[in-house]
Amino acid sequence: MTAPGLQVQGELWLDRAPLIRNLRLDFPAGQWSCLLGPSGVGKSTLGRLIAGLAGPFQLQGHCRASDAVPLSGRVAMMAQDGQLLPWASVLHNVTIGARLRGQVPDMARARSLLAELGLDAMAHRRPGTLSGGQRQRVALARTLIEDCPIVVLDEPFSALDAATRLAMQDLAARMLATRTVVLITHDPLEAVRLADKAWLLSPDGACALDLPETVPPRSYRDDATLAMQARLLARLHGMQPA
Ligand SMILES: Nc1ncnc2c1ncn2[C@@H]1O[C@H](COP(=O)(O)OP(=O)(O)OP(=O)(O)O)[C@@H](O)[C@H]1O
Ligand SMILES: [Mg+2]
Repeated sequence: MTAPGLQVQGELWLDRAPLIRNLRLDFPAGQWSCLLGPSGVGKSTLGRLIAGLAGPFQLQGHCRASDAVPLSGRVAMMAQDGQLLPWASVLHNVTIGARLRGQVPDMARARSLLAELGLDAMAHRRPGTLSGGQRQRVALARTLIEDCPIVVLDEPFSALDAATRLAMQDLAARMLATRTVVLITHDPLEAVRLADKAWLLSPDGACALDLPETVPPRSYRDDATLAMQARLLARLHGMQPA
């Protein structure tokens, strides 16, 4: 599978008012791009736009793939709130995409993903009986099983403890190595560890951020990673919530 790059240009509007002006974003093919910015600036809205989801937002401009093929059906999104079906088992939640399309779900793949994410013992539990971090991993499994060339992850690791977060970051980096990934995150270390490219969003547009020259996923012990994390944190600290 060859993953295309993505370009988003124009003005993002919400409820007939501009949310982010002057967007000139590019997400390189087969790489991880991070979106950072204050709460409420429009990161999730932008993610939903890329994923082709409906909402009270619109782009005055264009969002297109570098191969000029329509994006429809080629983007999987893990939503910020996970959006699991409360009445369905973990296994059913992970395989819901295939069921909705009238396909036979790949149960072996679902079980193998759950095992990789440390959830093999929970396949038959309901989401309401899981911890927040476990539910987040179920939502990640449901996104990974879609096997799409473009993947939007909206704060996918925010509910995880530090050690599990590092492990899941490495696992996602490995599993999505050839995909074009848009990772929305509030965590500067996560961005610096995983990003090939990083963008800081404000109502006035997107600004490309410096990253270490090394190849992600970067070690959290690395001096360059830690130095960049501190610089990014200072920059975010200077921004007001939207
Ligand atoms: N369905 C909706 N209807 C109306 N306004 C919305 C809707 N969803 C989000 N908004 C508003 O759009 C703006 C951007 O929200 P969005 O969720 O994209 O922000 P965000 O950058 O992802 O924030 P956070 O970091 O807190 O997740 C906010 O002011 C929010 O209140
Ligand atoms: Mg959000």
